[in-house]
Amino acid sequence: MTNIYAIVLAAGQGTRMKSKLYKVLHPVCGKPMVEHVIDQVSTLNTDKIVTIVGHGAEAVKAQLDGKTEFAVQEEQLGTAHAVMQAEGLLGDKEGITLVICGDTPLIQADTMKALIEHHQQHQSSATILTVHMDQPDGYGRIIRNQEGFVERIVEHKDATEEERKVQEINTGTYCFDNKALFEALKKVSNDNAQGEYYLPDVIEIMKSEGKTVAAYQIDDFEETLGVNDRAALSQAEKIMRRRINLRHMKNGVTIVDPDHTYIGTDVVIGQDTIIYPGTMITGHTVIGEDCEIGPNSEIKDCTVGDRTSIRQSVAYDSAIGSDVKIGPFAHIRPDSQIEDEVRIGNFVEIKKTVFGRGSKASHLSYIGDAEVGKGVNIGCGSITVNYDGKNKHKTKIEDGVFVGCNSNLVAPVTIGKGAYIAAGSTITEDVPGDALAIARARQINKDGYVQKLNHNK
Ligand code: UD1
Ligand code: CA
Repeated sequence: MTNIYAIVLAAGQGTRMKSKLYKVLHPVCGKPMVEHVIDQVSTLNTDKIVTIVGHGAEAVKAQLDGKTEFAVQEEQLGTAHAVMQAEGLLGDKEGITLVICGDTPLIQADTMKALIEHHQQHQSSATILTVHMDQPDGYGRIIRNQEGFVERIVEHKDATEEERKVQEINTGTYCFDNKALFEALKKVSNDNAQGEYYLPDVIEIMKSEGKTVAAYQIDDFEETLGVNDRAALSQAEKIMRRRINLRHMKNGVTIVDPDHTYIGTDVVIGQDTIIYPGTMITGHTVIGEDCEIGPNSEIKDCTVGDRTSIRQSVAYDSAIGSDVKIGPFAHIRPDSQIEDEVRIGNFVEIKKTVFGRGSKASHLSYIGDAEVGKGVNIGCGSITVNYDGKNKHKTKIEDGVFVGCNSNLVAPVTIGKGAYIAAGSTITEDVPGDALAIARARQINKDGYVQKLNHNK
């Protein structure tokens, strides 16, 4: 089998985005554009992936660490110049090299595979992935000769009126014979409207040297959308969102309103789970079967078991079990572990806490840095006082504890198994198992007080 290499172009600043963030790091459905591209390329079993990054693009490198090798393009002199930077890593290789732009996040591995196959069948030196566009403004146009063979690509800014009428465009994805690519790159000049070294110019160069150049045209222009500005970014987001939601629906997930449901690319959802509108599920979230999520919930990097409902709530970086009920209006903050059959009700915040099986905090609580056992009941308005202004401290609430309403558990503190905390207590010392702790001022009733008050008027 031939060796296959890939070069991903990601060094451009993306001036048209008007952003502090590198263009290729702008997320589409929660994942940076360039990472979508690299994740698709990765499924092709290439021998090497080289991503071209700009000088000082540490954020791009950090994001893609471990997924690709890098070559630095110190100055952004154009796409041909960008590809040249991979010469040190790839120049001497025999094989096929795919070149893909980091700003085409919708491109799919199957399309790249078909492009490679087309390239091999026709024994070409270069094959361009092309598509028909009704409104091709901004894209490079494919110029064919009278016999219909590809002659060259002309950039929009360099094109004549006549050439601009061409609706077949360069998608920015190509397949090359590796050696022929690096040879042709040396001959590219920057004599054009933008003063840049254009990668598409290698087509004309190869052609003039009698090499075979082919085009592989696909039907779906959506897949090749290049994101140069925020308007295209929102278009890409919408297309990707539809694609992801459709995949889940085909897998047996009910999505009540796919236009208003936002699911990240890497999210996994089990059968017969229902997702209600206004819900965002992102990161590496895995949701089980028969769950009800939403409306209006936000879940990021969580695992959720089966038959759990999360309504109008937010959960981050946490593990949530099966048969759990969360919300409405609950907030599960990072590093929490919510075990099976738990109930977290309205206006409850949980942070960095293990919340044991079958335990409940039904209303208005803050439980942070705590270890809550099984079958515990946290009364309305009770909180862990975990912060002394400098450090965080831990609260341990053992199995079967009943915390009365509006209690403060001042950490570090341990409430022993089966203990009761009287409502309104401020607990500053450990409570032994099975004890009743009352820590509040005693009530005094002053008989006839109101009468006396009125008498003195
Ligand atoms: C490019 C193509 C155009 C094609 C379109 C498809 C060129 C000259 N034009 O135009 O024919 O229709 O893509 O979307 O190639 N980059 C670098 N270094 C640079 C310049 C760019 O790494 O010096 C990277 C960018 O980060 C981007 C990609 O190359 O990911 C494409 O560059 P961009 O400036 O967006 O090219 P387009 O004008 O869209
Ligand atoms: Ca582009």
